[in-house]
Amino acid sequence: TCEPKVFSGIQPTGIPHLGNYVGAISNWLMLQNRYSGSMLLSIVDLHSITVPQQQQELRQNIIDMTACLLGCGIDTSKTIIFQQSMVPYHTELAWILSCICTIPRIQKLAQWKEKQSKIKEPSVGLLTYPILQAADIMLYKSTLVPVGEDQTQHLELTRDLSRSFNRLRGVLFPECTILLGDVGRIKSLRNPTSKMSKSEPNDKSRIDLTDSPDVIKVKVKKAVTDFISQISYDPDNRPGVSNLIDIHVALTDLSHDEVVEESFLQAEDTSLYKERLAEVIIEKFSPIRKEILRLQADKGYLLDVLRKGSEKASTIAENTIKDVRQYVGL
Ligand code: ADP
Ligand code: NA
Repeated sequence: TCEPKVFSGIQPTGIPHLGNYVGAISNWLMLQNRYSGSMLLSIVDLHSITVPQQQQELRQNIIDMTACLLGCGIDTSKTIIFQQSMVPYHTELAWILSCICTIPRIQKLAQWKEKQSKIKEPSVGLLTYPILQAADIMLYKSTLVPVGEDQTQHLELTRDLSRSFNRLRGVLFPECTILLGDVGRIKSLRNPTSKMSKSEPNDKSRIDLTDSPDVIKVKVKKAVTDFISQISYDPDNRPGVSNLIDIHVALTDLSHDEVVEESFLQAEDTSLYKERLAEVIIEKFSPIRKEILRLQADKGYLLDVLRKGSEKASTIAENTIKDVRQYVGL
C-alpha cells in the first residue's frame, strides 16, 4: 500500500465561497487524482477554536464543510477526509513540538504579529497554532502541503521543527515542501482590491457554493466595475472587470486572451459580459450545489464519512506517535 504524502487542512468556518473553490478546493480535486490514496484532508476544528466559537454553530460548520468538500468532488476512495479533533495524536505531537520550539521562534511569525495587534486578549492557542499545524503535517509524514502563500512562514516552521526533532531525537520526519497553487486571489465583487473572504461578514457580494442561480445572477450583475463599457484585462487599472475575467478563466478552459477576444467578437459591453459570466458560474456550481444540498439532508452519512476517515487517519498517526514517544523516552 502507498503511504499518504499530501496533507491539507481547512477550517470549518461556514460554507466555502468561490475564492475557496478556485484557490484551494479545485487544487485538491486535481491532487487527489494525481496522488490517489496518498492524500489527507483534515477539517481542522482545533484550529478554529483559537478564536471564540459557538458550540452548535461549530458542530454545524463541521458537517457543512464535509458536505461541501464531498459535494465538490472530494472522493473518500482517493482522499482520507477527517475531523482533526477525532484523532487525539494531533494535540499530543503539538505538545511535544511546543517543547522543542523556542518562544522567540514562534513570536516572530508575521501572522502572530498582525493578529496580536488586532485582537484585544489573544489566547495562547492563537500564538502556538502554527505548532499544531506542524504536528498536523508531521503526524502523517507528509511531504507535500498545498496551502496559500500566506502559509509560507508556517511551513518553514514545520521544516525547522522536523529538523530539530530529527537532530535531537533521531531521524523520523521527512522534509515537507509547500505546494503553492498557480491561481491568484479572487477579489471581492464589491471591493475588487481586497480578496473575497469569509472574514468580511458585511460583504454581501461574496458568492457561496450554495447560492441559487438567481442569487448568483444578482451578485454578478452588481459587481463593481468602471465606466469603460468594453472588456479588457488590466488588473492594475481595471481591477473590477479583471477580477471577473480571472473568475471566468479559473472556472473554464479559456485563457484571459480568449475571454477578452470572445467578448470583443460578440460586441459585449460590461453588462452583457456579466450575464455571460453569471451563466458560466451557474453552470459550474449548479451540480455542486445540488450535491451539497442532498448531502446536507443526510447527516448520518456525513458523520459516518468523518468517523471512517478519522479511523484511517488514526491508524497512520498512531504509528508515528509510537515512534515519537519512543524517541523522546516517554
Ligand atoms: P477566508 O479568507 O474566506 O476565511 P480561508 O483563509 O479560510 O478563507 O482560506 C481557505 C483556503 O481558501 C486557503 O487555501 C486560501 O488560500 C483559499 N482562499 C481564500 N480566499 C481566497 C480567494 N479570495 N481567492 C483564492 N483563494 C482563496
Ligand atoms: Na482556464
